[in-house]
Amino acid sequence: MPIRTAVIGAGNIGKTHGRVYKANPLAELVAICDMDRTRADAAAQELGVTAYYDVQELLRAGEIDMVSVATAGVENGSHHYEPAMQVLAAGKHLLVEKPISNNLAQAKEMVAEAKRRGVCMAVDLNHRFTPATQLAKQKITSGELGEVLFVNMNLWIRNPKDEPPYFHLRALHSHSVDVMRHMAGDVAKVQAFFSKGPGRNSWSNASINMQFTSGALGHLTGSYDMHGPDRHSIERTEVGGTKGRVVIDNSTVDFSWFPHNSKESTHVHNAGGMISFNETFGTRLGRWLEQLSEGVAPEQIEGSGEEGLKALAVQEAAIRSHETGQVIDVAELLA
Ligand SMILES: NC(=O)c1ccc[n+]([C@@H]2O[C@H](COP(=O)([O-])OP(=O)(O)OC[C@H]3O[C@@H](n4cnc5c(N)ncnc54)[C@H](O)[C@@H]3O)[C@@H](O)[C@H]2O)c1
Repeated sequence: MPIRTAVIGAGNIGKTHGRVYKANPLAELVAICDMDRTRADAAAQELGVTAYYDVQELLRAGEIDMVSVATAGVENGSHHYEPAMQVLAAGKHLLVEKPISNNLAQAKEMVAEAKRRGVCMAVDLNHRFTPATQLAKQKITSGELGEVLFVNMNLWIRNPKDEPPYFHLRALHSHSVDVMRHMAGDVAKVQAFFSKGPGRNSWSNASINMQFTSGALGHLTGSYDMHGPDRHSIERTEVGGTKGRVVIDNSTVDFSWFPHNSKESTHVHNAGGMISFNETFGTRLGRWLEQLSEGVAPEQIEGSGEEGLKALAVQEAAIRSHETGQVIDVAELLA
C-alpha cells in the first residue's frame, strides 16, 4: 500500500516535495494545502491532486498517512510549528522542512509531541543523504578512517536577503551542523565569531568552533556573501581520522578518500550519478518513504526530528557565544 501523502505549503519547496512524492511509487500524493489559494490551486492543478486552504480541513477530509510541512516564515522556520503540531495531533507521520523551527522551545515541543503520539517525525536534512555523504559515512562506520579527529566544513551561498540579525545562522546552518553531527556525533561545546558583509545589517558570515562529545574538533565557515550565479561548490566537508581522511565536495556530490597508509587515493565524481543539489530532495524524501514503508520505529528514522532539534541547539549555541563571548554548553540548551 503506498503511503497516502499530503504537502502543506505550495511554494517552490512544497512543489518540489509534491513532484518527488508524485514520482515515487512508495507514495500516493493526495493533496496539497496552502492558505494562499492561488498557490494551492496552481500546485494542485500541476500535480493533479486536491487543493486545500486550511490545515484542519485537509486533516479532516482526506485519508492521509503522512504530511510534508514546507512552510517558511521568519528565518525560514517560524511558520512550521503550527501546522506541524496540527499534523502530529492528528496522529500523522510528519516530515518538516529545515530549520525544524527558528525557535528552540517550539522545536522541543514538536519533537516531544511526536514522541507522545508515537508517530515518525523527520526533518528535510537532505545534505546527509547524498551518495557522496553516504560513502564518507561508510568510511567512518567501517572503521577504515579510524577515530574521527576533526571535521572541517564550509557552507556558503549568495543570499541577498538581509533579515537581521540571525537569518543566515538559523535558516542555513541546520544543513552544515547536521552533516558535521552525522560524521562526528553530538556536539558538546560551541564558540563563534560572526561578521556582517558590506552593506549588511545581518550577520552574514560565521566562523564556528565546536568540540564534539567524543573529543573530536569541528570548524564551520558559513556565509551568505559568496559567489553569484556561476554556482561553484557551495559546500565542502573534510573529516580527518587516525587512519585516513575523507572529503565531500562540489555541493555534496563528489567524494574523495585519502588513506594514511597508501599513496593511492580514491575519487568519485558525481557519486551515485548525482550531478546537482536539486536531486538531493529525491534521495532524502525517498529514504523517508522507504523507512515508513518498512514500518520502522520512530527512533530509527534517519534525519529525525530529534536530529533537527540537536542541530538547532548548536546553531543557537553559536548565536549565544557570539552575543556573550563565552563558550556555550550545548546540553544545557537542550535540557
Ligand atoms: N532542504 C533544502 O535544501 C531547502 C532549500 C530551500 C528551502 N528550504 C526550506 O523550505 C521551506 C519552504 O521554502 P519556500 O521557499 O518554498 O517558502 P515559501 O514562503 O515560498 O512557501 C511557503 C508557503 O507556505 C504557506 N503557508 C505558511 N503557513 C501555512 C499554513 N499554516 N497553512 C497553509 N499554508 C501555509 C505560505 O502561504 C507559502 O505559500 C523553508 O523552511 C526553507 O527553509 C529547504
